[in-house]
Amino acid sequence: MSRFKTGDKVVTLFNQGHLAGTLAAGMLATGLGGSIDGTLREYAAISEQGLVKVPSNLSLVEAATLSCAAVTAWNALYGLESRALKPGQTVLTQGTGGVSIFALQFAKAAGARVIATTSSAEKAEMLKKLGADHVINYKETPNWGEKAKELTPDGHGVEHVIEVGGPTTLAQSLNAIAFDGVICKSYHEFIDTDSRSTIILFLSPF
Ligand SMILES: NC(=O)c1ccc[n+]([C@@H]2O[C@H](COP(=O)([O-])OP(=O)(O)OC[C@H]3O[C@@H](n4cnc5c(N)ncnc54)[C@H](OP(=O)(O)O)[C@@H]3O)[C@@H](O)[C@H]2O)c1
Repeated sequence: MSRFKTGDKVVTLFNQGHLAGTLAAGMLATGLGGSIDGTLREYAAISEQGLVKVPSNLSLVEAATLSCAAVTAWNALYGLESRALKPGQTVLTQGTGGVSIFALQFAKAAGARVIATTSSAEKAEMLKKLGADHVINYKETPNWGEKAKELTPDGHGVEHVIEVGGPTTLAQSLNAIAFDGVICKSYHEFIDTDSRSTIILFLSPF
C-alpha cells in the first residue's frame, strides 16, 4: 500500500473501478452496494485505488455522505466544463432527495440562484433554510416548469436543471430550461436503461 498509512481516514469511491474520466460500461459493474457488496459492514478489503483520503475538516459521517449523491450533484453542475455553473445563473432542483439537496447547496455556494420544487410546506421551509431563493410546490402548481421560467431574470429560463424524476418531471424541465441550458439526468430509468451514468442534454428551441 502506497497511498495511505495506518490510521488514515478514508472514504470509498462509489464505482470502485472508476478512477477518472468518462464512466465506461465495465466500470458500472464496480458499484459498491450495487454489483459488488456494499459498506454496511465493519470491515472491508478494498483496493487503495478505490479510496480517497477524508479531508481534515470533515468528520467520518460528513465524508460518508459525499461519494454518491454529492458527486452526482457536483458532476451535474460542473462535469461538462463548457457549461459549468456560473455565479448569477439559475438552477432548478427537484424535490428533497440527496442529489437535489447537494445541488442546492453547491449552487448557492457558487453564487447561483436556486429554484427548488417540493410537495409540502414543511419541506419548503427546509429548502429555504438551505438557501433556496424560490420554492414551488409541484402538487399545487402542476405547471411548475413554466412557473420556474417566469421566476428567472427576464423570464429567460433556468440554465441548469437537476432532473431526478424522469417521466414525471421531464416535460416541466423542458418548459423551464433556458436556450442553451443543460438538463442533467440523474435518475436511472427512462431515457437510457442500460446506463447508470448521468446524461446531459443540450437544448435548442430550433
Ligand atoms: N442519492 C444518490 O446518491 C444518487 C446518486 C446518483 C443518482 N441517483 C438517482 O437520482 C434520482 C434521485 O435520487 P435521490 O436519492 O436524490 O432522491 P429521491 O430520494 O429518489 O427523491 C426524489 C425526490 O423527487 C421529488 N419528486 C417526486 N416526484 C416529483 C414530481 N412529480 N415533481 C417534482 N419532484 C418530484 C420528491 O421530492 P419531495 O419529497 O420533496 O416532494 C422526492 O424526494 C434517483 O433516480 C436516483 O436513483 C441518486
